[in-house]
Amino acid sequence: MLSYRHGFHAGNHADVLKHVVLVALLRLLMRKDKPIVVVDTHAGAGMYSLEQGFASRNAEFRNGIALLWERSDLPSPVADYLDQVRVANVDGVLRHYPGSPRIALGLLRPQDRLRLFELHSTEGLILARQFAQDGRRVAVTAGDGFAGLKAVLPPQSRRGLVLIDPSYELASDYRAVLAALRDGMQRFATGTYAVWYPLLQRREAIQLPDKLRRAAGADWLDVALQVKAPSPDGPGLHGSGMFIVNPPWKFSEQVHEIMPWLARALAQDAAASFRLDVCET
Ligand SMILES: C[S@@+](CC[C@H](N)C(=O)[O-])C[C@H]1O[C@@H](n2cnc3c(N)ncnc32)[C@H](O)[C@@H]1O
Repeated sequence: MLSYRHGFHAGNHADVLKHVVLVALLRLLMRKDKPIVVVDTHAGAGMYSLEQGFASRNAEFRNGIALLWERSDLPSPVADYLDQVRVANVDGVLRHYPGSPRIALGLLRPQDRLRLFELHSTEGLILARQFAQDGRRVAVTAGDGFAGLKAVLPPQSRRGLVLIDPSYELASDYRAVLAALRDGMQRFATGTYAVWYPLLQRREAIQLPDKLRRAAGADWLDVALQVKAPSPDGPGLHGSGMFIVNPPWKFSEQVHEIMPWLARALAQDAAASFRLDVCET
């Protein structure tokens, strides 16, 4: 039984990093006309209210998207991401936050496809209803995204992005992410993979970036954003990272441009910082 609901965290600093990276990756992958397939193995509900329900309880978005909303000095890849959030808030007031499926579909072209997996039954239903009109381009599966990934790789077009964004609610998620990346690379070695990971005072979380680097078997880029000092007593997210395998050309330049600005904009204390490592074989 899954208890994690992404609504509690929608629009927080981790979503901002993840979705800025997602938009930048998609833009670069769509520079060529050839169709791409985007697979979102852990899709969530697709859209979240920031005024009612889960997101309003802890209001994590106040330390995330809300800090960028009024800024006029955004680096262009961040402005591109903000534009996608503005589509969900046409009157200019920040009331809704789009999840990764909505953001991806907002950018995809008619020739592209979106494959969504969501295991939580309620979230899966919300997602399926939301994309019911987009059946030609979007397929929603209520089920395990780790298992489902095997069946959809490689895509026919041999071009695409796999977003792996589990909640890490289960300790087994840390192992499953590595297995999914290794298996995915065997089936679709030229694909781009984006794995979100938490910065937490927990052994599995601390070890995960190194394990991802060893599992990649191709060029990678690892970017992590720490928004505050780790709490001395352990629990709590002090930041997050995105591990990218086969990053598209020019992506690294964009991340170099984004991160200093983002680390300042989302800083919660003087320990805010970022780490960026690139491996090109
Ligand atoms: C971090 S949230 C996803 C957020 C979403 N990708 C976004 O950026 O808007 C993780 C989601 O994965 C779902 N989930 C957990 N285990 C799963 C699994 N094995 N397969 C598919 N979905 C799963 C959870 O119910 C939750 O909605």
